[in-house]
Amino acid sequence: MFGRKKKQAISEPTPRLVPQNLGIIMDGNGRWAKKRGLPRQAGHVTGAQVFRKITKYCEKCGVKYLTVYAFSTENWKRPQEEVDAIMNLLRQYLKESLADFQQENIRTRFIGDRSALAEDILKLMREAEETTAHKTGMTLNIALNYGGQQELTAATQALARRVQAGEISPEDIDEEMLGAALYTEDQPPVDLILRPSGEYRLSNFLIWQSAYAEFVFMDVLWPDFTEADLERAFEEYARRNRRFGGV
Ligand code: IPE
Ligand code: IPE
Ligand code: MG
Repeated sequence: MFGRKKKQAISEPTPRLVPQNLGIIMDGNGRWAKKRGLPRQAGHVTGAQVFRKITKYCEKCGVKYLTVYAFSTENWKRPQEEVDAIMNLLRQYLKESLADFQQENIRTRFIGDRSALAEDILKLMREAEETTAHKTGMTLNIALNYGGQQELTAATQALARRVQAGEISPEDIDEEMLGAALYTEDQPPVDLILRPSGEYRLSNFLIWQSAYAEFVFMDVLWPDFTEADLERAFEEYARRNRRFGGV
């Protein structure tokens, strides 16, 4: 509204070479495998290794928040065999990471709808969250059964329940309150969304959080992604002029 002074919902970080809050859409596993005549699952296996390597490198580079898109609310549409393979990789990763990531100063969290996940996976997720909760370095959000639309719907329902209970009035709901009701809670806005694989879309990833994010799309497939590719993306990010609606 004109003339109405309102608290800025969008914070304006000083431009830095390295994004403070980075989102990665780890895409291209299937095509990578197909190119080699391998089953799609083989791409997910290599993709999971690259995920570990790049996560550790992000922490070294000084990224404060990293969100990786591991499985979307739409990925259940894939053949059961592929979904099972992804869930098994996740089990394996969670078991190994409980040892592997202990040495790292990384706090692990999961974002997404947990209701559809198997009980043993949920238990491993809780363990990973609890055993890394005290870490002071980078926060790693693993987006699992995550969809931005589902996230906003769930947050809206939670706020509606609070209105119904008489705790808040509809007018109390502002950008800050809605943002805090999302899985990412009080984390800062996303600075950079990185998508390898040659697709130029968000695919329901962090739609609220990336309102003023920069986008870097790269042609490399995720299993081929290297530290040098990450640095190239950061260089591109550092060249951007972020204006946040100002001049
Ligand atoms: C991303 O790679 C991993 C998941 C979505 C789980 P894809 O499996 O989407 O690979 P492409 O895009 O088919 O090559
Ligand atoms: C997005 O990739 C989801 C993940 C990387 C986990 P998709 O491969 O599912 O996205 P679309 O289908 O190409 O949009
Ligand atoms: Mg894909």
